[in-house]
Amino acid sequence: MQPIGAQHDFHNPAYAQDWADRFVPTRARQALFDAIVDQLTSRALPNTHIVELGIGPGYLALEILRRIPGVSYEGVDFSEAMFAIARARLADFAGRIVYTQADLIRDDWTARLSQPPGAIVSTWALHDLGGEAHIAAVYQQARAVLPSGGLLLNGDFVKPNESKFAYEPGRITPSRHEEMLRAAGFRDVARLAYLEKDVENPTSANNYACFAGVV
Ligand SMILES: C[S@@+](CC[C@H](N)C(=O)[O-])C[C@H]1O[C@@H](n2cnc3c(N)ncnc32)[C@H](O)[C@@H]1O
Repeated sequence: MQPIGAQHDFHNPAYAQDWADRFVPTRARQALFDAIVDQLTSRALPNTHIVELGIGPGYLALEILRRIPGVSYEGVDFSEAMFAIARARLADFAGRIVYTQADLIRDDWTARLSQPPGAIVSTWALHDLGGEAHIAAVYQQARAVLPSGGLLLNGDFVKPNESKFAYEPGRITPSRHEEMLRAAGFRDVARLAYLEKDVENPTSANNYACFAGVV
C-alpha cells in the first residue's frame, strides 16, 4: 500500500488550477481558517504584517484580508502558477498584499520578507517540504524572524499519533510538531484544532491540525 500522501506539480499552471478547483474551502477547512483568524484577532501582535508560507491559491489569505481590515499581508511561495491564481482571487486587496517568491527549503526566505512579520501563518503547505528536518528548519527560521510577542500558526496535515498506517515523510504526528516548536524556542505551544481526524480511514485530504507558538 502507498503511504498516505500526494505527489504535486505546483509549478505546472494546469495542475495548480486543478488543485485549486478541487481543494475548495469546505465547512471543516473553514473551521481551520476560523481558528487562525480567532488567534490573530484575540491578541495584540507586535505589528500588523502577516506572512503566509505557501500562499497557494489564496484561500486562507482571502479570509484574513476580508476579516481583519487593519493588516498587511505577504504571501511566500515558490510557484509562479500559484501566484497567478492568488493574484486573481485577491485582486480586491492588491494594495495590502505583496507576493514573495522563495523556496522554503533552498532559500533564506526570511531575508526576502518586505518587512518584519507580527505573525507567520501556513495551511496545508509545510508537509510538502518532504520531511521533519525541513519543517523544523522553517520553525527555527520563523522563531528567529518574529519579534517578541510574534505568533506562529501552522495548520497542516498530520499523521495521527495512534496511526498504524505509513504516511509520506512530511506528515508527522501532532506530538512531533509540538516538540519541534518548543525546541525552536516557541512558548505557549498549543494545538488549536484537530480536524477531519480519521485514524482508520486516512486519505491525502483528512487528518489536519493547527499548532500555535508565541515568541
Ligand atoms: C496546499 S497549497 C497552500 C494552500 C493555501 N494555504 C491556501 O489556503 O490557499 C501549498 C503551497 O505550498 C507551496 N510550496 C510547496 N513546497 C514549497 C517550497 N519548497 N517552497 C515554497 N512554497 C512551496 C506550493 O507551491 C503551494 O502553493
